[in-house]
Amino acid sequence: MTVTSTRIAVVEADPAARSRLAMQLGDQVADYRSVEAFSSSSSSSSSLDGRPTVVVLGPSCAVAPGLGGGEDLIHQRRDVGAILIAEELTTDLFQRALRTGVRDVLAAPVDTAQLNEAVHRVASSLGAAAAPAAPDPVEPLDGELGRMITVFSPKGGAGKSTVATNLAVSLALRSEKPVVLVDADFQFGDVAVMLKLAPKHTIVDALGAIDRLDVGMVQNLLATHPPSGLRVLPAPLEPAYSDRITPSDLTAVLGVLRTFCAFVVVDTPSYFDDKVISIIDQTDDLLLVAGMDIPNIKNVKIGLQTMRLLGTPMSKVHLVLNRSNSKVRLDVSEVERTLQVKAESLIPSDVVVPQSVNRGTPVVLESPKSGVARALEALADRFAPAAVSGRKKRR
Ligand SMILES: Nc1ncnc2c1ncn2[C@@H]1O[C@H](COP(=O)(O)OP(=O)(O)OP(=O)(O)O)[C@@H](O)[C@H]1O
Ligand SMILES: [Mg+2]
Repeated sequence: MTVTSTRIAVVEADPAARSRLAMQLGDQVADYRSVEAFSSSSSSSSSLDGRPTVVVLGPSCAVAPGLGGGEDLIHQRRDVGAILIAEELTTDLFQRALRTGVRDVLAAPVDTAQLNEAVHRVASSLGAAAAPAAPDPVEPLDGELGRMITVFSPKGGAGKSTVATNLAVSLALRSEKPVVLVDADFQFGDVAVMLKLAPKHTIVDALGAIDRLDVGMVQNLLATHPPSGLRVLPAPLEPAYSDRITPSDLTAVLGVLRTFCAFVVVDTPSYFDDKVISIIDQTDDLLLVAGMDIPNIKNVKIGLQTMRLLGTPMSKVHLVLNRSNSKVRLDVSEVERTLQVKAESLIPSDVVVPQSVNRGTPVVLESPKSGVARALEALADRFAPAAVSGRKKRR
């Protein structure tokens, strides 16, 4: 006997409500404008025949006569179990819906965990051999927010993404609680490429539901880096989408991430804009990355001045000197003197870094014995000492 899995479909006329429900239900879901569109798609695709399906009827169906075709669908298809979402949940609607065979009725806006639970329940009642898995429940952190660590440099190519990805991977391996890396280089972010991930969602998918975000929904947007268990919120796939994201959108997403992730590491672009300034305002720690050449040092000096003007407490700024061993007639003490800040981390230059980038494996995993990996691990020690927390088993 072949094992059948349950399909999940969302039917909703309003595009924003439809995409929000689809986002809440994760990657497996198919979404349709109408019951008719759903019916024709499932009858035209023979491979789907006989597969039990949980259909989530959105708020527009709740107010349409005959549940927008939902009533007929329930009567005609024994392989379909329906859940109705209603903006206004009256006793009358509730009773009418249950009488027509709807398995569950939920009030909009529906909580992601509650919605997935209902889908799971209906899938089991359809007798599917393999009901859809409810998403891993995440425990909120005990009353405190996860620590936010931002990696920034006012100079392009200084090594921000290298530091951010390796630090995040290293913290993910040490932490029992989730660790997330947010790619806030919204135009040209390459975190996903550096970790060899093919993202299904990006922060742009959250924008339609920004005032109603919940943990389950944000969790569904994240990709997972299998070797470390690191969660990743990738940058938009198109640079143009960057303009659609406002500082308050970003604050909303970061706020939810901090409720369940022990560490939120943020990679940034190499300029100050309203989004970067808002990230710097919110962050607990700012790793300021500088390369070992005069243009780098000049820009970092200006960057430090800008941050002072913005009122950034210098106690949260930590200078990271990248390629610190480069023989470029500049030494670390000279750089520190010029910047009037002591370097808290020295990362040597090593060809294993571009090699690991090209392989899509962070250097802390690819060449853990290299000087550069050790320096990056030592940086992670500042936030989560390996000796205390112990290494988590790789997933
Ligand atoms: N310590 C290092 N040794 C050798 N190469 C390095 C080192 N750090 C970074 N690189 C290389 O420098 C290049 C730029 O690094 P990275 O992408 O991390 O910089 P960035 O600051 O994020 O750049 P951008 O401003 O474009 O986002 C990459 O090709 C990377 O492999
Ligand atoms: Mg970068």
